[in-house]
Amino acid sequence: MSFRRIIAASAALAALLTVHAASAAEVNIYSSRQEHLIRPLLDAFTKSTGITVNVVTANDDALAERLKTEGANSPADVLLTVDAGRLIRADQAGLFQPIKSPVLEAAIPASLRDPKGNWYGLSMRARVIFYSKERVKPDELSTYEALADPKWKGRICIRSSSNVYNQSMLSALIVEDGAQKAEAWAKGIADNLARPPAGGDRDQILAVAAGACDIAIANTYYYAGLLTSSKEEDKQSAQKVALFWPNQSGRGAHVNISGAGVTKNAPHKAEAVKLLEFLVSDEAQKLYAEAVYEFPVKPGIAPAGVVAGFGKFKADTLSLAEIANHQAEAIRIFDRVGWR
Ligand SMILES: [Fe+2]
Repeated sequence: MSFRRIIAASAALAALLTVHAASAAEVNIYSSRQEHLIRPLLDAFTKSTGITVNVVTANDDALAERLKTEGANSPADVLLTVDAGRLIRADQAGLFQPIKSPVLEAAIPASLRDPKGNWYGLSMRARVIFYSKERVKPDELSTYEALADPKWKGRICIRSSSNVYNQSMLSALIVEDGAQKAEAWAKGIADNLARPPAGGDRDQILAVAAGACDIAIANTYYYAGLLTSSKEEDKQSAQKVALFWPNQSGRGAHVNISGAGVTKNAPHKAEAVKLLEFLVSDEAQKLYAEAVYEFPVKPGIAPAGVVAGFGKFKADTLSLAEIANHQAEAIRIFDRVGWR
């Protein structure tokens, strides 16, 4: 082999190795969200960066357990889940590492991310009031607090207090109104229930449509899902129910997030940060929120589709990180007032 040919061969080999290294770039997500909801976005990320995204899906508790068991050997780079309450639990279990990113800080309002940078909100949902168009007039409604009034006795449906959505909502109420008022509120709601809590948020909205109760408290995306359902009966049920934005002349509606953190031992930390930054780009924010029927976290990006039809609303700007200190207290209150 001539010297020149050796040089050419080495150059070709080097090029091959570079390509191989680029194609080997990857990031591993543990997700409690179904993969098909996020796959189009992840593919767009791969297309623009060359970084492959692998997804493991399971329920939240299983993923947290797995991360704990795997410890320093975990292949996970990112934990993607819903509700700040769950992100806080993962954080308290030491599963995240702080990420400092001017891109994430600029895109995500401070109330929707951890001040230490351990988790970031990627989409926003609101937990609001739904009412029967037949049996309730919107001018009878005002705030979450007002639903504790005996006027609503036997008329409210809401899911079990074992659910993190309710725990986060009550934690927020503890911060906003103080523990005493929050407990009186929880007792008032428990006394006003139409039936013992059963089922998920979707079931509460359907129960209003079916006449089992007049009011439900539920997350916005369940209503959006019913309105756009492929099942005609779901759509018809949703038509009987309307959304009411609570506390609009005060602090605003209780909002929460889906979000993610970079794991403590992420083998691909740089790629993980790149992925989170990609997910708050204008285009990704639009697509992600639309795919999950939620609101973009990034100010200035309008929600799309059926969610846009919910109209503008005032969201509570309480830092979701603040509810961390009140989750245990919220659970004790639920127990004391008999909200199962
Ligand atoms: Fe949900």
